[in-house]
Order: sequence, then structure tokens, then C-alpha cells
Amino acid sequence: MVIINDVGPRDGLQSQDKILDVNDRVQLIRAVVAAGINNVEVGAFVSPKAVPAMASTDRVLAQISDLKSVTKTVLIPNLRGYELAKAAGAKRVAMVLYATDGMSVKNVNMTAAEAEASAKSICALAANDGISAAVYIAVSFGCPFDGAVDPTHVGDLVTQYYDYGVEQIVLADTIGAANPKQVSDTVAPIIAKHGGAKIACHFHDTRAMGLANVYAAYSAGVTQFDASIGGLGGCPFAPGATGNVATEDVVMMFAQMGVETGIDLEALLKASDLAIELTGTTNGGRARAWLNRQYQYS
Ligand code: COA
Ligand code: ZN
Repeated sequence: MVIINDVGPRDGLQSQDKILDVNDRVQLIRAVVAAGINNVEVGAFVSPKAVPAMASTDRVLAQISDLKSVTKTVLIPNLRGYELAKAAGAKRVAMVLYATDGMSVKNVNMTAAEAEASAKSICALAANDGISAAVYIAVSFGCPFDGAVDPTHVGDLVTQYYDYGVEQIVLADTIGAANPKQVSDTVAPIIAKHGGAKIACHFHDTRAMGLANVYAAYSAGVTQFDASIGGLGGCPFAPGATGNVATEDVVMMFAQMGVETGIDLEALLKASDLAIELTGTTNGGRARAWLNRQYQYS
């Protein structure tokens, strides 16, 4: 069984030219949930000046409070974000840490070590408040500012963050720089040391290797993946990054491999259509054309 966390409503929407209103964001979340996705990154409590598309995430959360069986994650960059998330009733927060200082300074105005100290104290608060926490390691496979990232460094960071009692550690290929061999080289020692229960991967499809990287990570023992409906995405702070690997591509690949995801591809295709209609983008991964034919003629 593979678990997919759809990050389209956050990572996917944050850098779109078109800013969706709360109702449209809610509609998109409901569409992916209708396809059987039980894990969704629904928004972020970040500065609305820095990321206008994520303003009003509190209202998004309020409008989806009926989706009780869905694990709804919100991204937070600092203590302020944590407090806002908690006040809005969030039950799971994601924090971004960094494999390089270059990316950390550009993204949150802190060095990687400063961001880590801040996240560590927030993890302690969250544990106390009964809020689960995930930690992302951004630019785990390459940084637009600092270049190559040593797999050993990423392994060391994972070991460090394990001590914080986080629920999940996500190795993020923020700019889509990874290749499948590098993914195996990075992930295999981590899985050998810690097992796969808390490890997830987050790939962008910038260089068309998103799906190959998912497969490499899966082969190395990872069973939890982020993906973005319609391949929406990019990062406003990471030059050249395009969307996440498309959810429909990942789900189709696992379906063809006989690996269960619990997700209905036909309903997912409808969610993908909606994502593209709402944002007006031409993104959409590679599976859409083939899936469209399957469901049109069957
Ligand atoms: N939620 C809402 N507003 C916030 C906030 C949060 N979590 N954190 C800071 N702010 C506001 C402050 O109130 C301040 O507003 P003002 O200008 O109206 O006074 C402004 O943001 C700057 O705050 P400051 O404490 O000086 O932070 P900073 O400039 O060092 O860092 C970040 C600001 C990092 C919080 C902001 O740039 C941000 O939210 N970035 C988004 C990062 C992100 O989403 N990355 C995507 C991950 S791939
Ligand atoms: Zn991302």
C-alpha cells in the first residue's frame, strides 16, 4: 500500500498567477478527497504578503471541518504560523527545514541551523498541544543557490530530526534536481537505519524525472509520497522549479504496477480537470491524455 498526500492545494497553488478564492480552494480539496485521497496539504499559515495565494487558510480549514477522516496538513514557517494554525484548529502542521543555507536564507530569512532551532521548539509545543508535526527537508537533492547536496548530509539531518518526535520526515526535491540513482543512494541508507514508517518523498517534475524518482524511492522502501493534482506547482522562492509530480501520474503508475493506493483514477481525473480549469494552467503531468481516453471510451 502506498499513501499519497496531495499537496496541490498548497504547493500547487502558492505560485500560480491566478489566486484562487476560498471557495475554489475548498472545491479543489473536496475533489481530491472524492477520489479517495485521505491526506491533503490544505494551505499555509505564512505571511500573506509573501504568499498571497495562501491567505485565509483559516477559512479554508473552517469550510472543510466536515472532512473528519482526512488528514489535513498546513504549512507553517515560524512560531507565528504555528499559533495561527493552532487557533484555526489545525491538527497537523508541516515545517520546512533545509539541506542548505542558501535556500533557507532565501525562503525564511534564517540559516538552516536557525530554522532548525525554531522548528525544534515548535515540535515541542505541538507535542504538548496534541498536534502532529511533519518536517520537510527542502532541497534534499540539489539547491538552486548552493548546488549539489551530499546524501550523507541528508541522512545526518534525518537522524537529527528523528529525535524531535516528529510524525514524518519528508525528503523534498524542491526544484526537481534529483535523478533516480541519487534518490536510491540517499534514501536506501536512511531506510536501512530508520525503516520506512516515518519517511516520505516529495518530488518536482522539473526535469521529467519525477515519476522515475518516485519509483526509485519506492524500490528503496519509501511508501509515502507527496504529489500534486494536475501537476500544479512551483516554488516562488526556488528559481526554475516547476510543478510537483502529478498525482494522476503517480497513482496511474502504482495502479499499473498492482500497488494499492485506495484512489479512484476516474475521479482523480475529474479533480485534475478541475485543478486546470480553476487555475487556467496547461500543466497536468503525462497521464491525463491516456486516462481521458480510457474513461471516454470505456
Ligand atoms: N503568518 C502571517 N504573517 C506572518 C507570519 C505568519 N506565519 N510570519 C510573519 N508574518 C508577517 C509579519 O507579521 C510581518 O508583517 P508586517 O510586514 O505586516 O509587519 C511580515 O510577515 C514579516 O515578518 P518577519 O517576522 O519580519 O518575518 P521575515 O520577513 O523574517 O520572514 C516569513 C517572513 C518567512 C514568515 C515570510 O516570508 C513567509 O511567510 N514566507 C513564506 C515561506 C513559504 O511559504 N515558503 C514556501 C515553502 S516551499
Ligand atoms: Zn514542493
